[in-house]
Amino acid sequence: MIKIAVTGACGKMGGLIIENVLRSKDMKLVSAIDINNIGRDIGEVMKIAKLNVAVDDANNIDAALDRTRPDVLIDFTIANAAARNVIVCANKKIKLVVGTTGFTPQQRSIMDEAIRMNRIAAVISPNFSIGVNVFWGLLSEAAAQLGDYDIEIIEAHHNQKKDAPSGTAMKAAQIISKTLGGKDLIYGRHGLSQRQKEIGIHAVRGGDIVGDHTVLFAGDGERIEIKHQAHSRQAFANGAVRAAQWVYTASSGIYEMKDVLGLK
Ligand SMILES: NC(=O)c1ccc[n+]([C@@H]2O[C@H](COP(=O)([O-])OP(=O)(O)OC[C@H]3O[C@@H](n4cnc5c(N)ncnc54)[C@H](O)[C@@H]3O)[C@@H](O)[C@H]2O)c1
Repeated sequence: MIKIAVTGACGKMGGLIIENVLRSKDMKLVSAIDINNIGRDIGEVMKIAKLNVAVDDANNIDAALDRTRPDVLIDFTIANAAARNVIVCANKKIKLVVGTTGFTPQQRSIMDEAIRMNRIAAVISPNFSIGVNVFWGLLSEAAAQLGDYDIEIIEAHHNQKKDAPSGTAMKAAQIISKTLGGKDLIYGRHGLSQRQKEIGIHAVRGGDIVGDHTVLFAGDGERIEIKHQAHSRQAFANGAVRAAQWVYTASSGIYEMKDVLGLK
């Protein structure tokens, strides 16, 4: 039985992940950690059956992890919190699945160092859906053929999303830029802003949009759009739980979802 802890347990993703863990035959929820609903039963917070797992205070995460001793911690919180949670887990040799987005390069390098120094295994991905991981591969192929086309990335998310542009859009930009040997990135345009050979990135926020990403390759007389639309957060939750099962037996290292899926 893989013992699972979830940070951000009371959030939109945390709740779905817990439901998936409960459905899984080889996993057991041992710890639910958040800054809200401290002491309440997580099943009651989620409005399902009582689970006899009280929400632990994220400010005392050390004590919660020492008491419950999870094999894998799944983090869907916010960047500042996740960066700290990763360091705490790495020091305790707890394996990690990190879905939180919006890390600064500095936060990311501190996290990576803690994971490497402690020789644990971690899967870190701004998007755990199978479709988006295939989409990223398609972008690399398209960019290799269409490098001289104008490239724009347009993403849309719900009005509660805190970071912009999305981690998925940023990863798309990095993949295309790497394929093309380095490109400047421009975030939106305003005023006099004649297009150069940059990649333009545009973030739309509204309503309950789960997550849309379109990459436009526009040339003379034609354009190609490669698009992914998430209909439900379940696509991310399924992937995160699959990543937790995979990382449980993985040797030390920092992995992406494409490693879990066996994609190139
Ligand atoms: N990688 C993916 O596939 C994927 C998919 C969806 C969302 N996300 C990312 O996951 C993160 C969470 O998204 P969400 O929609 O569930 O957000 P949310 O706001 O619904 O949930 C975040 C939860 O984290 C809790 N939290 C805040 N600080 C904490 C701390 N220090 N310790 C523990 N818990 C803390 C909040 O109280 C809240 O319950 C965001 O960064 C989002 O961009 C990633």
